[in-house]
Amino acid sequence: MFIDRIMKRKNNIDQNTKDDYSLGYQKGVLDYLSYRALKSFDFILPYLRPDMEVLECGCGPGVVTFEIANKVINGSVIGIDIDKDLISSNNSKVDESKIKNLKFRVANILELPYTDNFFDIVYMQAVLVHIKNPINAIREVHRVLKNDGLILVKEPVMDRAIFCPEEPLFLETFELIEKAIKSYGGDPSVGRKLWPMLNEVGFRDILISSSWEQPGSLDEWPSFYEGWVNVVKGKIGDIILEEGWVDEKHLIDIGNAWMNLSKHKRGYAASPWGEAVGWK
Ligand SMILES: C[S@@+](CC[C@H](N)C(=O)[O-])C[C@H]1O[C@@H](n2cnc3c(N)ncnc32)[C@H](O)[C@@H]1O
Repeated sequence: MFIDRIMKRKNNIDQNTKDDYSLGYQKGVLDYLSYRALKSFDFILPYLRPDMEVLECGCGPGVVTFEIANKVINGSVIGIDIDKDLISSNNSKVDESKIKNLKFRVANILELPYTDNFFDIVYMQAVLVHIKNPINAIREVHRVLKNDGLILVKEPVMDRAIFCPEEPLFLETFELIEKAIKSYGGDPSVGRKLWPMLNEVGFRDILISSSWEQPGSLDEWPSFYEGWVNVVKGKIGDIILEEGWVDEKHLIDIGNAWMNLSKHKRGYAASPWGEAVGWK
């Protein structure tokens, strides 16, 4: 059974289904994504105007999509994601909020259910990292953008990080997460390849920047590092154990190392991201 699952995921190179998404949808992971995503709002804010039509691809829990809705008050925003439970939960939040210019829809970034030249902006964060052939996703985004429309994309570069102290378990955490993402066909350091990919698809005037995923004030440390631990405890942890890369005790040791870092605050860890903006 296990071998069947591995073969299926490795052979299916041109598709991306929900099963190919290695992070999973456990509550701890979704809380971490929501917390992290909001920190990225500054990256897109300068480009939003009140009358824009915006699409967010792979919106996950949708916290940034809600923020965008507050800015495009005379336009609208749609968040798409491949997971129907997330979309249904996000749409319930829209109903409760009574916001009119926001909706969520189940869709695959590789086959967007929109006509050509439809959106002013397409935004995505931490999505290409999970796509087996990310350039196809960028092509699809290019298709649905209006002429002069903008792609805004932010993706991790997981093979570089800052750790103090240089605790081997910290480095190993990243190596294990990278291995798990790769085993599902993703590219955990796709954030460094944004310029060549956008350029190949035909975007112009591409602006590249980078930022760090890191805690802000000392108060933030426990929830921040707990987020990384939650990733290792979720579906990624199941993949690590199934593959036999380390045993359960070792994963617990990894979790404890991070929790010690946030408790004693005698160290620091941060991970880089690549960001790109390009015009169609
Ligand atoms: C790491 S999460 C990022 C969520 C959100 N963008 C954020 O930054 O918090 C990746 C999201 O992409 C979605 N996803 C994965 N493959 C997808 C695909 N082919 N089409 C659309 N969404 C996809 C997953 O369901 C997941 O919600």
